[in-house]
Amino acid sequence: MATAKKTPAKKASQPKEATAILRADHKLVSDLFEQFEGTRSTPKKAKIVAQICKELTVHAQIEEEIFYPAVKAALKDKELVPEATVEHATLKDLIAQVQGVEPDGEMYDAKVKVMGEYVKHHVKEEQNEMFPKAKATKLDLMALGEQMLARKQELMAAQI
Ligand SMILES: [Fe+2]
Ligand SMILES: [Fe+2]
Repeated sequence: MATAKKTPAKKASQPKEATAILRADHKLVSDLFEQFEGTRSTPKKAKIVAQICKELTVHAQIEEEIFYPAVKAALKDKELVPEATVEHATLKDLIAQVQGVEPDGEMYDAKVKVMGEYVKHHVKEEQNEMFPKAKATKLDLMALGEQMLARKQELMAAQI
């Protein structure tokens, strides 16, 4: 007997909360840094770092354009978002430094390591302080998430 098959929901099109999208990005980048640690081959290292830089650049931009302003307004925040924005500036500087050196030698490894530690610190503050506070507001995190995913796709496509 034939049974009507339900079309399985496509994962990618499922709505996600803004914070869940950002957490997934954080996890991806943290995994990439871990991969870098275990890699010896210079071309492979360069490939991983290129992906880290791309992911971080797009991630920071969707936070700055969409997530941070919404959180700032909802929390009437004068501290968390400005601090995170300053950290993004430092992060962009670290990205530029990593992109500016040849992917071999101890300075390259050192720069990537410092960038990884800095990202870890920044992510910890977002996930432990900013996200829980954002979730406690009336902010529509689903709508925000939808907006962020659309912008992310656009920015990812524009990155080389
Ligand atoms: Fe951030
Ligand atoms: Fe983030």
